[in-house]
Amino acid sequence: MAEEWHAPYERLTRQTITLHQALRSLMEELEAVDWYRQRADDCEDAALKDVLLHNMREEIEHAAMVLEWLRRSDTDFGRTFDIYLYSSGDLTRVEEQADDDTAAGAPLPLPSFTIGPMKGGAPWTR
Ligand SMILES: [Fe+2]
Repeated sequence: MAEEWHAPYERLTRQTITLHQALRSLMEELEAVDWYRQRADDCEDAALKDVLLHNMREEIEHAAMVLEWLRRSDTDFGRTFDIYLYSSGDLTRVEEQADDDTAAGAPLPLPSFTIGPMKGGAPWTR
């Protein structure tokens, strides 16, 4: 496996390795979205263009699934997603409000698990 590690592999936790797998997968899905979109823009055959855009949407679905896995499985991602995703207004103001809340002693938001826990728990807890 040609993985790109930035620290000695034997010093990485199972959690870090699992998170790496998710992050690399997300990067690949987003790259595929970009590639399909560019090819669709350049495609002069209407039927093929439709297929490429369909495939692009499939890659968006795959990316969303990995994002949801990150939200459910990693507290840092979960807390941050709870602050920013589906917020409204100026995003820099959302950050300022979150910083103000933290400075005022408000507890960090806990990730909201609206769907039951992942079957068997997070991979590194098994
Ligand atoms: Fe995909």
